[in-house]
Amino acid sequence: YKRITTKSLVDMKSNGEKIAMLTAYDYTMAKIVDGAGIDVILVGDSASNVMAGHETTLPITLDQMIYHAASVVRGIERSLVVVDLPFGSYQSDPKEALRSAIRIMKESGGHAVKLEGGKEIKESIKRILNAGIPVMGHLGLTPQSIYKFGTYTVRAKEEEEAEKLKSDALLLEKLGCFAMVLEKVPAKLAKEVSESVSIPVIGIGAGNGVDGQVLVTHDMLGMTHEFNPRFLRRYLDLHEEMTNAFKSYMQDVKSLDFPSDEEQY
Ligand code: KIV
Ligand code: NA
Repeated sequence: YKRITTKSLVDMKSNGEKIAMLTAYDYTMAKIVDGAGIDVILVGDSASNVMAGHETTLPITLDQMIYHAASVVRGIERSLVVVDLPFGSYQSDPKEALRSAIRIMKESGGHAVKLEGGKEIKESIKRILNAGIPVMGHLGLTPQSIYKFGTYTVRAKEEEEAEKLKSDALLLEKLGCFAMVLEKVPAKLAKEVSESVSIPVIGIGAGNGVDGQVLVTHDMLGMTHEFNPRFLRRYLDLHEEMTNAFKSYMQDVKSLDFPSDEEQY
């Protein structure tokens, strides 16, 4: 694929090729992630945690999401850029949802939006899709509802919630969403959901029976040490590496080792 589109992702599912998605919130990171060949870059509202240090995703604003997304878009050549609609920008009414989605598309240059929820936000999803804006769904653990759940533990372990999740997944497909994220649900349920729809299901903490995986880049790089869910695989310990680099720099400055003769004019 020269440039990943929403259609490439659906094709990848039919061909059995798994989709790799990671987050980015800025130009430099996006350029590296895109250059590595990652299919989808998510400008997640996890920026609220990772970039701004908030405890939840609720505080981040639409303007802040647009700033992050526009920075990401300037760094990419091939990846599909999906942007989270932040809490409060789409729940109150479908018209506001569409206005928010339009602002993201116009002001950031992103390629699609992601919204949390199923049946509750059906009208908003419809309206956004009717305007020609691709929508990625997000079911299971939906962090914008954390105060309703009360905990970040696995969702849909009970029959009732599992049934709702399955019918929401079918609804998202029927409405015309091009893909969905399934967060922190039992692997068996996630596999069932993936097999029940023709659009790609991208999992995080949802096992390997789905059509792709997503992780928060700062987590998989090991920059965040506090966050230790079972589903997180760390590919680097950048926290350690960076700390060592900062310490070496400090030592070099204090010992007058830096800058050397070659490092000055
Ligand atoms: O905001 C985010 O990073 C997300 C992913 C974890 C799916 O929504
Ligand atoms: Na998110």
